Amino acid sequence: DNAYLITHGLAKDTLSRLRDVETEQVSFRKGLVKLGRICGYEIIDGRMETEYVEIETPLEQTMGERVRGLDDVVIINVLRAATPFVEGLLKAFPRARQGVISASRDEEAGRAEDGSFPISVDYVKLPEIHEEDTVIIADPMLATGSTMCTVLEHVVENAVQPENLIVLSAVSAPEGLLRVNDEFDEADLLTVSIDDRLDDDGFIVPGLGDAGDRAFR
Ligand code: PRP
Repeated sequence: DNAYLITHGLAKDTLSRLRDVETEQVSFRKGLVKLGRICGYEIIDGRMETEYVEIETPLEQTMGERVRGLDDVVIINVLRAATPFVEGLLKAFPRARQGVISASRDEEAGRAEDGSFPISVDYVKLPEIHEEDTVIIADPMLATGSTMCTVLEHVVENAVQPENLIVLSAVSAPEGLLRVNDEFDEADLLTVSIDDRLDDDGFIVPGLGDAGDRAFR
């Protein structure tokens, strides 16, 4: 099982504000940025190593520590709800190379028998991925997992397997985590909350509503 919870108190605090129906557009968007930054710090803390380096202060030479691999990070923005989330991640990984993929659920087509949604992919631009990279695919919501599995197909296709392949979400449903884990064993799934369930329309419950709508209009 490759699912991990981000348990930082500030992550829980920020997510709770995002869930609140009273949180309006500007606060919602800022909350997603903040949550992205916290998740970025948690990824560094939990999955990246530091190494000792010699540094020179204005007074003398000493040893310092640097995070290994900070220059080898790729962040993939799954349009559109991930945009503010990625903005926050970039505060933790300012030199990350970025990929953009527009993948969204075709809700008119409805849910298939197996609970999945057909996904329309309109735009894909990914940087080259190298073995030493930490690749973070960011999407605030992982519901049925249909979007993420489609994104992962594009990421995995033609790419060498990166050292760390991380699927990062704020809220996720058990169904979606299981599906992504089944189909892409090589990915680690990081989330701030595993919610109770999906409703008949494929929305995460209790969830936070439609993150894209709440952040953008
Ligand atoms: C939402 C969300 C995820 C997806 C999750 O996006 O941001 O991308 O649904 O659902 P899934 O796990 O069942 O695929 P949506 O399709 O609403 O697009 P938007 O971000 O452009 O609003």
